[in-house]
Amino acid sequence: MTVPWNHHHILSLDQFTPEDYNTVLQTASSFREVLSRRMKKVPALQAQVVANLFFEPSTRTRSSFELAAKRLSADTLNFSPSTSSLTKGETILDTAKTYLAMGADIMVIRHKQAGVPSAIAAEMDRLNSGVKILNAGDGQHAHPTQALLDLFTISCVLDPENPSISALKGKKVAIVGDILHSRVARSNIWSLTTAGANVYLCGTPTLVPKLFEDFLPSYPYGKLFVTWKLEEALKDADFVMTLRLQHERMSDHLLPSLREYHQYYGITREKIKLCKESVKILHPGPVNRGVEISSDLMDDPRLSLIPDQVTSGVAVRMALLYLIGR
Ligand code: CP
Repeated sequence: MTVPWNHHHILSLDQFTPEDYNTVLQTASSFREVLSRRMKKVPALQAQVVANLFFEPSTRTRSSFELAAKRLSADTLNFSPSTSSLTKGETILDTAKTYLAMGADIMVIRHKQAGVPSAIAAEMDRLNSGVKILNAGDGQHAHPTQALLDLFTISCVLDPENPSISALKGKKVAIVGDILHSRVARSNIWSLTTAGANVYLCGTPTLVPKLFEDFLPSYPYGKLFVTWKLEEALKDADFVMTLRLQHERMSDHLLPSLREYHQYYGITREKIKLCKESVKILHPGPVNRGVEISSDLMDDPRLSLIPDQVTSGVAVRMALLYLIGR
């Protein structure tokens, strides 16, 4: 496979070009085919070491990175903060340097503070280590691999055989929920508007500040709107992405009650009647069932893409590890 690729690390999507997105989608599509075979493994990253350094909890991202690395024949190292030497006062940079000394080629980093993956990348570059850093979610800043798997999932609905960003041009995507605390929303704004989709951000005024309208990437081919009216966001939407209320990041009282939130902004079968008939629902997970989305809608295979997002995650993360690691 020969594909153009200029990114040494993947820390955010703000500098991704339309060509970069198509390279990821096409590479992920090839790996999706590999994953459908009886023998689901390729030797692309044989003898490389992928270290998963998750300083914040994760189910989907961590496990799919580990599986993706193994499907590419890389060796994987996993790290758990609570049983690590962080508890004895070791710093994050010293932890990263320890994995460098063990021969890590790629480090996948998640941290609750924005900027930690960039700080580790800067240190690895300063040491001329050649190590590549993949951001697996940092604070409220970015979650690039989630946005790329969302893009892949949507592209596969629109054109299953040949997923590309061209299919998203002019599509309406409503992102509903806790935008303020969401790194997933921030990364999706970059990818979806670069792909040409029109993105509507919707939630309570406390969770969706108007200043988000200025939050545009380098290649804004689609438009970005902020609305506090769910009807406006859902009307004729092609895709609805609901987001979790991130209680762990909320320091103030931003909502009257969860019951009231669900009444006004929870996505239900009744409310999505405003959308296009072909509408599909996404959620990056983890989900607060019955809060941002009703349980029956989440489990409806005709409408919900939530399991597809998780499945796409492995192929997309294989693509990203391959593109930076080959
Ligand atoms: N979507 C996502 O990042 O999920 P995890 O926190 O389980 O990795």
